Amino acid sequence: MAGDAPLTLGEVLRRSTEHLAEKGSESPRLDAERLLAHALDVTRIELYTQLDRPLTTAELAEARALVARRAAREPLQYVLGEWGFRRLTLTVDRRALIPRPETEVVVERCLALLDGAEAPRVLDVGTGSGAIALAIADEHPGARVTGIDASDEALALARENAGRTGLRVELARHDLFAGLPDGPWALVVSNPPYVDPDDRDALQPEVRDWEPAEALFGRGATAAVASGALGVLEDEGVLVLEVGDGQAAATADMLTSLGYVDVRVTLDLAGRDRVVEGRRR
Ligand SMILES: C[S@@+](CC[C@H](N)C(=O)[O-])C[C@H]1O[C@@H](n2cnc3c(N)ncnc32)[C@H](O)[C@@H]1O
Repeated sequence: MAGDAPLTLGEVLRRSTEHLAEKGSESPRLDAERLLAHALDVTRIELYTQLDRPLTTAELAEARALVARRAAREPLQYVLGEWGFRRLTLTVDRRALIPRPETEVVVERCLALLDGAEAPRVLDVGTGSGAIALAIADEHPGARVTGIDASDEALALARENAGRTGLRVELARHDLFAGLPDGPWALVVSNPPYVDPDDRDALQPEVRDWEPAEALFGRGATAAVASGALGVLEDEGVLVLEVGDGQAAATADMLTSLGYVDVRVTLDLAGRDRVVEGRRR
């Protein structure tokens, strides 16, 4: 019977795409390609050279398992178990937030501000997977970077990522509301939890139901980092903050009223103002 013939890769790709679209994925084809490439341990390009190849039972089972996870709206990044952030590939799972493209712009600003500094001390507040801390250590090799987080689980993941990348960063448990660790720091960077808990229902299920609530929701964390940094930054040291959509102007005003100078807002890759910085005088 034709129905008993083994499924080809092309057919599995087509059916997976259809299934993920029905389940609400915004990029079903791309998701299906990434998941099948992962299941078969090939690149996405290689998939297209093998579309007529029948899948073995084991390959089909592996592909089905991954597609089923994604169909339940688990983020693609968690299903794959790793994700790219700037030059690094990091382990990602439910212990910490998935590093976002806009956060790569935060790192870009940090590197520009650190340019020419030989051995700057850098503090990453709310380090999560360690993405910002590790990317700065990677791209500014003289930097001595410390990452803090209130979540032991996030810190465990950040430690795994430090091991995986071979980069040296110091990681410590610390609550940002208890003040920031003594510096002096040349740069304090933070992507703090900034989603208003009242906006929870507006989030995509991938974010709302899978990413750690303590990484997403917060009131007052941005202000606490901004005022805390004033006490631990060196003279002329800089603060770089990622903020939520629509929060940049108010955050810039807050930095100015706290006494920061050279306050500046940078747009992310999508043209939204998501990065705010200021210098301690
Ligand atoms: C938005 S995530 C950022 C993660 C990572 N830096 C990134 O950009 O991908 C915020 C991080 O702040 C941490 N966090 C939340 N509340 C905190 C607190 N009171 N003190 C320290 N860290 C906190 C969370 O555990 C989470 O890892």
